[in-house]
Amino acid sequence: MLKVTVSLIKADVGSLAGHHIVHPKQIEAARENLKLAAETGLILDFYVFNCGDDLELLMTHTKGEDNPEIHGLAWNTFKMVTDNVSKPMKLYAAGQDLLSDAFSGNVRGLGPGVAEMEFEERPSEPIIVFAADKTEPGAFNLPLFRVFADPFNTAGLVIDPRLHKGFSFTVLDVLEGLRVTLNCPEEMYDLLALLGTTGRYVIHKIHSREGLIAASCSTTRLSLIAGRYVGKDDPVCIVRTQSGLPAVGEVLEAFSFPHLVAGWMRGSHYGPLMPVSLRDAKCTRFDGPPRIVALGFQLNNGKLIGPADLFDDPAFEYTRMKVMEIADYMRRHGPFMPARLGPDEMEYTTLPQVLEKLKDRFEKVK
Ligand code: F6R
Ligand code: MG
Ligand code: MG
Repeated sequence: MLKVTVSLIKADVGSLAGHHIVHPKQIEAARENLKLAAETGLILDFYVFNCGDDLELLMTHTKGEDNPEIHGLAWNTFKMVTDNVSKPMKLYAAGQDLLSDAFSGNVRGLGPGVAEMEFEERPSEPIIVFAADKTEPGAFNLPLFRVFADPFNTAGLVIDPRLHKGFSFTVLDVLEGLRVTLNCPEEMYDLLALLGTTGRYVIHKIHSREGLIAASCSTTRLSLIAGRYVGKDDPVCIVRTQSGLPAVGEVLEAFSFPHLVAGWMRGSHYGPLMPVSLRDAKCTRFDGPPRIVALGFQLNNGKLIGPADLFDDPAFEYTRMKVMEIADYMRRHGPFMPARLGPDEMEYTTLPQVLEKLKDRFEKVK
């Protein structure tokens, strides 16, 4: 059986009209580069797309996770797009997420977001690739908990003996650089004690209790890498589905509830996450509301059959209407918490520069 690795590596390397969309020429350039890599046999297949201002490189290969050649290919592609397209066209924030000049074998910690998983391709292998714009990795905590641990979302947890044992969640503490694995259902309450703090504890991987990889998420926090605000780390995630894993529809069901995520304007506000088609994956109102796309693929000996644009469906129209109702409500708060993020999260934005000015104006109260 073929052991295949799916790598989804993304970066914002500049966009058209502010932080709105990737320019078609950027996509074209990235495609050309990955096509060459496929011809040399480095990768089996690829699909280039965008979610808002983020350029998404989906690649399949047999080199495993964290492979220097694959990460190097992604890095060089982002660099090339920046130098050959973003900069000459004076696109906005050209090369924004490329935080280092020197690539040293792995894009983790350099700016681009990465979700990867290696597995033996099953006789039929349906996967869903998620990409979001104007939010952060913690945005996946709630929906992925629902998919893999909540029987009110995923009928298979109750009905299908293969899902009945539950799943194990590997969670990253992105502030301390620590990792913990907790099993559901037994440790569900402990897991939720972490996952509720979305800015710090982030789902990294989910496995079946037999050790089958089921989901993998990006966990970068650009602001922590750069030590200054360089945009939100618009996250990506890969989920395997069916035949003992949650069904495609059980995975999508979790996104029918437009939960509040951190991000939106200046990465500083809470807003509802809007499931959209590729066509509508572009942020407008108040640089939002935050968007998410879901692309379905069937793997065929490492080749990507698809995509199926899964949120391109009237079944999600009601969610999108709700999103706009919530967006209206949240925006009426203007600069006030809890619509604006709390002080801890604002540390990583440009707000401290503004507050600095007031420092000397304060006097001691007797
Ligand atoms: C959020 C985002 C945008 C920008 C905003 C200001 O992730 O990318 O909301 O923060 O448009 O951008 P600058 O500071 O580049 O003018
Ligand atoms: Mg941008
Ligand atoms: Mg973005």
